[in-house]
Amino acid sequence: MADTALIRPEGAAADWTIPQGWDAYTAEEHATWDTLFARQIAMLPGRVTPEFMDGLDVLRLSKPGIPDFDELSERLMKATGWQVVAVPGLVPDDVFFDHLANRRFVSGNFIRRPDQLDYLQEPDVFHDVFGHVPLLANPVFADYMQAYGQGGQRAAAMGAIDRLSRLYWYTVEFGLVRAGDGLALYGAGIVSSRSESVFALDDASPNRIGFDLKRVMRTRYRIDDFQQSYFVIDSFEELLDQTLNTDFAPLYAELEGQPDHDPETILPDDRVYARGTQAHARR
Ligand code: PHE
Ligand code: FE
Repeated sequence: MADTALIRPEGAAADWTIPQGWDAYTAEEHATWDTLFARQIAMLPGRVTPEFMDGLDVLRLSKPGIPDFDELSERLMKATGWQVVAVPGLVPDDVFFDHLANRRFVSGNFIRRPDQLDYLQEPDVFHDVFGHVPLLANPVFADYMQAYGQGGQRAAAMGAIDRLSRLYWYTVEFGLVRAGDGLALYGAGIVSSRSESVFALDDASPNRIGFDLKRVMRTRYRIDDFQQSYFVIDSFEELLDQTLNTDFAPLYAELEGQPDHDPETILPDDRVYARGTQAHARR
């Protein structure tokens, strides 16, 4: 993800990339990856969208532990033309968008400490690679991510990054998708978190609401706790089709001056899959 008002660390290139430094990872760091990987692999089948399970194969590399980005990029390049590049942490919006628009996914190169397995504030290599890369091996999702980068460059020029960021948040990071009669996970922030993988799908607390582009652009989100509402897409094809073939400029103009929605609000026009109790948020 991106942020503003960041200072480029010494040693990072103009595009904020750094060498991954794979040889410098300790045995303990590789073990942390393996633990997190095993935990999620045990829990996700039946909960996550099949496209994610298919994409997981690109993470199975010749060496165990934290993926070597060179080998990973080679695999991903063959699948969808994407690469993974290392950065020190959050990068500015324009840098983030430029990488996505050129089919490069930026990943932190550091991994969380063993006492942070369940919670950390900044996205690390487990979130970035395990959470995001499997779907980048899916041709439709891969195109969506590139289009999002291009849309980011347009939004920046129109002063509408906040609107567009909500789309990223409620799809790429915390999205749910219909699967048969039920719902499945696909957002990277969910699938890289053991607790939210359960909460997002099974807990009575959050709302689960049908995805609507304008609605999502108006909805604030929480960065400090589980989401109070999740938005459900019909399919990746449907998401790509809607976003690619809609000019966002008139939407940004229309939304200007309209009030935002709170993360827990249900609106009269919402397609409600589940009306949450919000017990978790009110605990
Ligand atoms: N169609 C969007 C625009 O006009 C670009 C975009 C595509 C944004 C896909 C996000 C995802 O800005
Ligand atoms: Fe992320």
